[in-house]
Amino acid sequence: MMERSRQAQGLLLICLLICLRLVSAFHRPPPGRVIQTAFEKPRSHPQQVHVSVAGRDRMRVSWITGSLHALSLVEYGKAPGQYEASATGEGTSYLYFFYRSGKVHHVKIGPLEPGTVYYYRCGGIDDEFSFKTPPATLPVELAIVGDLGQTEWTASTLAHIGKSSYDMLLLPGDLSYADSQQPLWDSFGRFVQPYASRRPWMVTAGNHEIEAIPILYPDPFVSYNSRWRMPYEESGSTSNLYYSFDTAGGAVHVVMLGSYADFNSSSPQYEWLAADLAKVDRRVTPWLFVLLHAPWYNTNAAHQGEGESMRRAMESLLYGARVDAVFAGHVHAYERFTRIYDNKADPCGPAYVTIGDGGNREGLALEFDQNHRSASLSLLREASFGHGELRVANATHARWTWHRNDDAYATVRDEVWLTSLGASGGCGVGRAARIARASAKLEL
Ligand SMILES: [Fe+2]
Repeated sequence: MMERSRQAQGLLLICLLICLRLVSAFHRPPPGRVIQTAFEKPRSHPQQVHVSVAGRDRMRVSWITGSLHALSLVEYGKAPGQYEASATGEGTSYLYFFYRSGKVHHVKIGPLEPGTVYYYRCGGIDDEFSFKTPPATLPVELAIVGDLGQTEWTASTLAHIGKSSYDMLLLPGDLSYADSQQPLWDSFGRFVQPYASRRPWMVTAGNHEIEAIPILYPDPFVSYNSRWRMPYEESGSTSNLYYSFDTAGGAVHVVMLGSYADFNSSSPQYEWLAADLAKVDRRVTPWLFVLLHAPWYNTNAAHQGEGESMRRAMESLLYGARVDAVFAGHVHAYERFTRIYDNKADPCGPAYVTIGDGGNREGLALEFDQNHRSASLSLLREASFGHGELRVANATHARWTWHRNDDAYATVRDEVWLTSLGASGGCGVGRAARIARASAKLEL
């Protein structure tokens, strides 16, 4: 009798375990089908509309027209159809082998009020768009996702982001996965327009943006730089591949670095970074974030060591400035590390996050190395598509969440509260900033 009861209990336990397994099982998604987005309006109509911040109270509106004669004009106002202001800008076109791009327009508008919805139209054509400017103070919410692509998974990721209350999207490289097929850049621009025309999209370049071919087409980043103009001039940089900007009235400073631009100590990027970090006064800017493409810390088997040269060149600058967090892409998975400096846990170093899981067509990077030398520093790693949300609540605390795409749902799989190194007294931020300022003066 006792024996039968024990067998029944065992069976019950096995059933329970199977049921729990079924409930919590998550099948890793395969690569999604590429979605190509067509354009059926006349050639003079704006398409691929997106906006980006361009200085303290300005925005840059960018779009493309099939017609090379369309006007680079933006009319805007705070009520639908009532455009009390306008601005003109520039239009360019580029050639990639036999492909001639449409006219790429960039128009800077402002001054604009913070936290305000503006309605606008491009080139005098009655297709109305609207965007909301970022807030003047904290809190601010940043959606962060890399390696986006234009697949069914990308659509899922963007739909999830669209349901959040984000103020701005940050993209650490690998946008369209056009890979020299230029019409895919156009398709990507149309694919993201419903989101990128409504909130500022701030991007930096990945390897898929390079598109140079030795001898035949030696210039890199031609399509990316033409289409995705970022505020590099506004931040004292000489290259669209690295720049910085403030948001939430200067409470947050974001630095976008170029993994595929020179980064050694004698390079323009290094010198610009040293000067840019030295200008940040952490008493008024408690939060400092950096985005780049190839991660400096990574325990995934994919792209091992590819960010190492850049880490060796620049990590001390970021550490000296007490950067709060570094977000990277490139590896198609999610991974969050503790605060690190020089391969060791350090409470005054940045937290490192890989968020290259936007939904690209290449699929996921499934294999993590359990014995990697950084494995003990890695707090959570998973190969699933998804996106991150960074809600900077106040001067001291920010909530980071990673949202995994569970089919139609965005499931919070990781959550952590970050404490600002600028607001906490423990890491000698004032002293670190003075040292950074002094060394920038020496180097420039
Ligand atoms: Fe990449």
